[in-house]
Amino acid sequence: MNRYMKKVKDHYYHKARKEGYRARSVYKLQEADARFHFLKRGSNVLDLGACPGSWSRFAAQKVGHEGVVIAVDINKMEGLGPDVIFLRRDIFKLEPAELQEILPDGSRFDVVLSDMAPKTTGNRGVDHLRSMGLAETALWFAQSLLTPGKGAFYCKVFEGGELQSFRQQCQQVFQSVKTFKPKSSRSESVEIFLFCRNRRAES
Ligand SMILES: C[S@@+](CC[C@H](N)C(=O)[O-])C[C@H]1O[C@@H](n2cnc3c(N)ncnc32)[C@H](O)[C@@H]1O
Repeated sequence: MNRYMKKVKDHYYHKARKEGYRARSVYKLQEADARFHFLKRGSNVLDLGACPGSWSRFAAQKVGHEGVVIAVDINKMEGLGPDVIFLRRDIFKLEPAELQEILPDGSRFDVVLSDMAPKTTGNRGVDHLRSMGLAETALWFAQSLLTPGKGAFYCKVFEGGELQSFRQQCQQVFQSVKTFKPKSSRSESVEIFLFCRNRRAES
């Protein structure tokens, strides 16, 4: 890490501490929302890979009491307050229907977020493939839970050979797919985000 990157890390780290967020990663969501405007008052949001909770907290602030944030993580998470419903689950052992049942009758999800990341091994190819497995599963949740003609899906992936194929899968499910690298994501990081909007009716 060079001196400039260290400075960037310090800036976002201290900003997050000052603003009461548990992780600097909150700005990767905040920047996307500032660009694409998808977190709205009253929205129902699913946050996959939510621990330690900065995305969930930001989403809960945006949707207000009229909306719902359901956060899922394989790890334990506490103390996010009454506005976030937390499920400690492995997404590979979870069904979309279980999440749909949590929403009030007649409600649907408006937004699916995934900041999921595998435990890194140091082998870039292995880490990429594991990240793709998480991202494809997140896409399946988005496809299953979002309303045709509507919805937003914001998903982290590690760059690598399968990314193009994943992007094509997203294009089959959504009318619009954009690649986004937030400023708060370190330039040397292999992570990149896809922002997808409007689930295709036929998907
Ligand atoms: C980078 S962190 C998320 C940070 C979060 N967005 C925030 O701002 O606080 C990635 C998370 O993905 C979770 N994760 C990885 N694999 C998972 C799985 N199979 N099921 C559920 N969560 C998973 C990890 O436990 C980890 O907490």
